[in-house]
Amino acid sequence: MTIIVPAKTQTDFKIIEHLANRIWTEHYTPIIGKDQVSYMLQKFQSAAAIEDQVQNGMVYYLLIYEDKEVGYFSFSRQEGALFLSKIYVLNSLRGRGIGSATISFLEKQAKKLDLHKIKLTVNRFNSSSIKAYEKMGFKNVGTTVQDIGGGFVMDDFILEKPVK
Ligand SMILES: CC(C)(COP(=O)(O)OP(=O)(O)OC[C@H]1O[C@@H](n2cnc3c(N)ncnc32)[C@H](O)[C@@H]1OP(=O)(O)O)[C@@H](O)C(=O)NCCC(=O)NCCS
Repeated sequence: MTIIVPAKTQTDFKIIEHLANRIWTEHYTPIIGKDQVSYMLQKFQSAAAIEDQVQNGMVYYLLIYEDKEVGYFSFSRQEGALFLSKIYVLNSLRGRGIGSATISFLEKQAKKLDLHKIKLTVNRFNSSSIKAYEKMGFKNVGTTVQDIGGGFVMDDFILEKPVK
């Protein structure tokens, strides 16, 4: 069973930083290359960067499975949608329903906030995750290219899932 716990303390942010280092390095190096992975980890997923995001309205949660921290996700409210900013599960524990449990949790949160869709962006070449999102009911509604500094861009599809 997946347990979902809000991340609030410095210790939680450090755990997320470690998970991000493991997951992003393994998963994204073949997709965006090691320089962009290092740049993005430092800019967006250091404990200090996470703390800053939380102070600015982003919420982070840890995913616990069989008593271990195995992943995390974060979301914010954005123009009538619940924006799922990040969802990462350790490679060895994918395909066990942790992602689906997270989406069910987010649907409940969206309803509480009177938001009628979950929105996310995913790298165009992140095909395994795109397949998982499609299985979880997301539809591709467009594309976006975002300049993130350092000479890098995020070249993404926009996916949405209605919340009824
Ligand atoms: C995307 C991700 C969070 C999904 O989490 P997960 O715990 O593996 O998801 P689940 O086990 O709940 O699977 C959800 C559905 O997707 C399907 N699925 C999962 N991985 C799949 C894959 N690689 N190919 C096809 N379908 C897949 C599952 O079969 C399930 O469908 P079902 O309910 O019809 O059986 C996880 O794969 C991940 O962390 N990926 C790497 C990091 C990443 O790219 N994150 C997204 C950034 S935008």
